[in-house]
Amino acid sequence: MSAAPRPGPRGRRLPKTDRGAGQWAEQLPPEATVNFAAEREASGIDDTLAALDGELVGLGPVKSRIREMAALLLVDRVRQRFGLLSTRPNLHMCFTGAPGVGKTTVGLRMAELLQQLGYLDKGHLVAAMRNDLVGEYIGQTAPKTKKLLDQAKGGVLFIDEAYYLHRTDSEKDYGQEAIEILLQVMENERHNLVVILAGYKDRMDAFFESNPGMSSRIAHHLDFANYELEELDSIGRLMLEQEFYYLSQDAGATFHEYLARRMRQPRFANARTVRNALERARLRHANRILADPDRTWSRDDLMRIEAVDILTSRDLPPTTESSVRKPS
Ligand SMILES: Nc1ncnc2c1ncn2[C@@H]1O[C@H](COP(=O)(O)OP(=O)(O)OP(=O)(O)O)[C@@H](O)[C@H]1O
Ligand SMILES: [Mg+2]
Repeated sequence: MSAAPRPGPRGRRLPKTDRGAGQWAEQLPPEATVNFAAEREASGIDDTLAALDGELVGLGPVKSRIREMAALLLVDRVRQRFGLLSTRPNLHMCFTGAPGVGKTTVGLRMAELLQQLGYLDKGHLVAAMRNDLVGEYIGQTAPKTKKLLDQAKGGVLFIDEAYYLHRTDSEKDYGQEAIEILLQVMENERHNLVVILAGYKDRMDAFFESNPGMSSRIAHHLDFANYELEELDSIGRLMLEQEFYYLSQDAGATFHEYLARRMRQPRFANARTVRNALERARLRHANRILADPDRTWSRDDLMRIEAVDILTSRDLPPTTESSVRKPS
């Protein structure tokens, strides 16, 4: 998975320092003044922040944290141009939350933002899990982890369910070897590689407790809450809108009812479940249309999802006490 790098703002190139940021920006004399509206404009971050707001429903606290980080980095960048060198902000992060709450999506936006602000050269995201880092036999882990780190250089290494790197049940586990390499690179290459660890909050907390070295290298913890019913509904409508579909009034009511029920079922995965339900609706919509080949269909017909296209809550198994999703 990768995000296309965007060109940085034009200007005289400063010598490449180990700080990474500001390499593309002009130096400023001490008597100069700056205007941050212009700085924001030049960096292009407003587009990314606007996309974050417009394309992602809810996530208020996550969006606020990202704005705060963007402010810090923008000011840091301008300070550098005045020659006010301070240590580069630590950018390694941890995203916690249940499946489908938007962690990977926000990771992609974050990579783009860091590239726009000059903190990453490429701004791509490499998504990985334990198996991408840890080998099965002796001697496999180091080359595997290093290869992945090389691929991620200049961008974000996004490790899903990072706690699986550490296995308490086995002494002969190579996960620890991967963690050691990761720790070293997070320190030595921090000018051009950002690591984001993702997963459930409780497991991540336990992982940090048994790996204090990792905990101390992560500066930003962003917790993603489960979506409320109304948010899931809005996410669904937004997804449809982006694909030029919409729900008829009846379909809207059926979809809402379906979500209310589905949220309480096992394997509910927030926005991912919404996406999957809508993929199925699209399939049913297409088949309903093709089932009546002699009829003429309008453009609007091809956009409108009807109630019969939506899986109804009656199609779901009954909710039992034990299957109700536990709050995380
Ligand atoms: N707030 C949101 N608004 C609109 N779409 C969203 C939102 N959150 C997630 N999505 C969409 O839902 C899908 C799942 O999101 P994503 O893959 O980012 O979740 P995740 O937290 O990484 O899940 P997992 O833990 O399973 O990897 C994506 O298609 C994404 O675009
Ligand atoms: Mg993900």
